[in-house]
Amino acid sequence: AAAPMVDPFGRSIRYLRVSVTDRCDFRCVYCMAEDMTFLPKREVLTLEELDRLCSVFIEKGVRRLRLTGGEPLVRRNIMSLIQSLSRHIEAGRLDELTLTTNGSQLSRYAKDLAAAGVRRINVSVDTLDPDRFRAITRRGDLRVVQEGIDAALAAGIKVKINAVALKGVNEHEYDAMIRWAHGRDMDLTLIETMPLGEIDGDRTDQYLPLSQVRRDLSERWTLTESAYRTGGPARYVTVAETGGRIGFITPLTHNFCETCNRVRVTCTGTLFMCLGQEDARDLRTPLRASEGNDLIAAAIDEAIARKPKGHDFIIDRDHNRPALGRHMSMTGG
Ligand code: GTP
Ligand code: 5AD
Ligand code: SF4
Repeated sequence: AAAPMVDPFGRSIRYLRVSVTDRCDFRCVYCMAEDMTFLPKREVLTLEELDRLCSVFIEKGVRRLRLTGGEPLVRRNIMSLIQSLSRHIEAGRLDELTLTTNGSQLSRYAKDLAAAGVRRINVSVDTLDPDRFRAITRRGDLRVVQEGIDAALAAGIKVKINAVALKGVNEHEYDAMIRWAHGRDMDLTLIETMPLGEIDGDRTDQYLPLSQVRRDLSERWTLTESAYRTGGPARYVTVAETGGRIGFITPLTHNFCETCNRVRVTCTGTLFMCLGQEDARDLRTPLRASEGNDLIAAAIDEAIARKPKGHDFIIDRDHNRPALGRHMSMTGG
């Protein structure tokens, strides 16, 4: 197997997140503004270019690949990319090919995803109340998403539920969400809202520290620290009452950058070495400059050699502007 790329802080880069489109059929309040301008199609890499780029990263030692967006499953012909990438799984070069999705198209794609070697997916569900779901996503239909999740489970795909913790919005629902998710053998991961991109509301109002949520949950549930890891930033506890797991993603209250193993590429072929930093490297130019992959490989090496130590997200009354201009939908998290 290829030796991993190693950054200046000694961290091995084994995990690539690829945003295949900046578009989404939802407009989640913490993620986007109501009125979003998306990239013109010509800026966006073709599926063939995305495939080529991913393959270079795999040659350079990446073992886990996660497709994100925007919403990855609204990209036209996305299955052809996923099917093509699955050759790396079959050849043993890749341990995991997965995606993070809002679930709106899952009913349609579940079987094909399973057939292409996708063994687990993460689906965002921030609330189990249909009206609140519509309010948070502005466009989404909870029933459609739940049907999509059922289709994925029926196809044998493991599903993890992502919920962004939102103060005064879903904070009284976690007990119900734990029962719902664990009842279907799904992990539930709670996420602290990160200051990325201009949104219509104020993030200070939305932010809920997970340290507080965890204390609160432990008054009603028996939580035990778990050694389970996915390669992502979540830290897990098991719940004795359900036998299931809760993950906590805590960029604000507990920084996990020390163990960072990942980089991300946008749908325009820009490599971001950190979700919370501006520094980026254009890979589209070397990708389009020649048929061979040497230029891309060199550009990737150059970028990894300056991967920053970590993010410095902060959310408080005095810093209620987004820390970064770009939205989560550019980098897919
Ligand atoms: P697993 O492989 O299941 O652990 O996936 P994951 O949790 O890494 O990925 P997912 O796409 O489900 O993302 C969940 C949340 O984690 C999103 O809000 C991401 O933005 C966030 N996240 C993932 N990687 C990073 C990271 O390197 N830094 C920060 N700050 N957040 C991240
Ligand atoms: N902060 C934290 N999580 C976010 N997500 C989208 N925007 C943000 C944000 N600003 C989540 C989505 C999805 C995952 C990819 O990132 O809910 O689960
Ligand atoms: Fe779309 Fe995901 Fe952003 Fe919601 S969080 S608007 S589903 S990209």
